[in-house]
Formats: sequence, structure tokens, C-alpha cells
Amino acid sequence: MIFDTHAHYTDEQFEDRDILLPQIHKEGVSEIITCGTDIKSSIKSIELSKKYPFVYAAVGFHPEELTRIDVDIPALKNLITERVVAIGEIGLDYYWNKENKEKQKDGFIRQILLAKELGLPVIVHDREAHGDTLEILKEYKPKGVLHCFSGSTEMAKEIIKLGMYIGVGGVVTFKNAKNLPEVIENIPLDRILLETDAPYLAPVPFRSKRNDSSLIPYIAEKIGDIKGISKEQVLKITKENAYRLFFEK
Ligand code: NI
Repeated sequence: MIFDTHAHYTDEQFEDRDILLPQIHKEGVSEIITCGTDIKSSIKSIELSKKYPFVYAAVGFHPEELTRIDVDIPALKNLITERVVAIGEIGLDYYWNKENKEKQKDGFIRQILLAKELGLPVIVHDREAHGDTLEILKEYKPKGVLHCFSGSTEMAKEIIKLGMYIGVGGVVTFKNAKNLPEVIENIPLDRILLETDAPYLAPVPFRSKRNDSSLIPYIAEKIGDIKGISKEQVLKITKENAYRLFFEK
């Protein structure tokens, strides 16, 4: 019943992926979207998705990578197969680099336009770039998800008004989750997607250990506590949300 809408199984921390993926699938992880951050990891993501029917790929250039490389739209377009369900992970990251804001914005916009041309959703990364992210999403209106949401309740409502989804992961279980519980309290469950960002951001009680999709129930449980419903209901409804976004044409 577990749909992990955001992971990085091509990461070097997953050298055991060919043991781990079949194992967690057997334990109840029914779908995983593994995201690329550049061409190399996007190709690897597609390879994984071809090997495992429960793994799907997202391809894209992560904003952090844009300090060393340029967004190459034709190369990205060349990768598209029926195993690719989204363009991602794309977006803006002013935490790691605020020297190249214009380059980041340009790369983000061009990848959104590609997603729209292909009829695919986007998986958006926004770290300390809420204003510019929201402005670009409002202007170009892609379908998609704002992953690892870290904005205000007001921003979440704006994102939902655009028809997009809010991605929630391990951070919601952290003591310093800031206003995320309040955000969740104030948005409808049918706009929330569950994610790990594995190998990063493992939920409590596994914080700072390697994360994987089998830990999603800890996130669902916390959301259930906030919403006053069961973990099972959270898993079921968020999985329906993910199907609506990624699999309905
Ligand atoms: Ni990620």
C-alpha cells in the first residue's frame, strides 16, 4: 500500500539496491518514483524502472547541479520513455547557491515548459526560494508536486489553488518540523503526497540513518495523528492522489 513519490535509488548509498528494492516491495512498497538530478542519474533511474515494474522514473536537472552543468533540454527529451512519469527533480535552491539565481530560474522554467509539452507533471524542489518558486509556478501553471514542502500554510494554499500537490516526508516527524504540522492541519488530505527523499531525511526514530521507502508508514502515522485518522487511511488516500497525478493522462 506504500507509494513513495520521491526517492533517489541511484544514489551511491544504495549499492545494495538490487537486494533492497525486491525486499521492500515484498514488504508492501507498491510504487516508487526515483528521481534524476542530472543526465547520468536520470538514465540510471530509467534503467531501474525498466528492471523493476514497481519503480518509475523522473528525469531532470536538480538546481544544485547547475553550478557545474547547464540544463540540456534536447538531451532530457531524448530520454523520455513510457517509464518516465515526471520531470524532476527541478526547481530552485538558494540555500546552496544564491550566486546563480537567474541561471536556476531559467533552467527551471525551460524544464517546466518541456513537462507541459510532454503532458507530464513536475517534481519541484524549493529550498529558501519560496517567493521565486511560487511566482514561476503561478506564471507557467504546470501540474505537479512541491516536494519536501517547507513553506507557510498560506503558500501551501496557493500551491493547491494551482492544482498542485504538497509532498510530505520525514521532516514532519522531526521535533524542529516548524510549521509543517500546522500546514498539514490546514490543507485537505487529497492534496498530500507521501515521499522519502531516500537516502536522505529518514523519519524519527531513524533520523540521520539511511532512509528507504519502507519507512513511509512513520510519516503516514504522524500525518494521521495531525488529521485524527488512521495511518492506513493516510496511506490509502495519498496513494490515490499519486495515481491521479502521475498515472492519469
Ligand atoms: Ni530529492
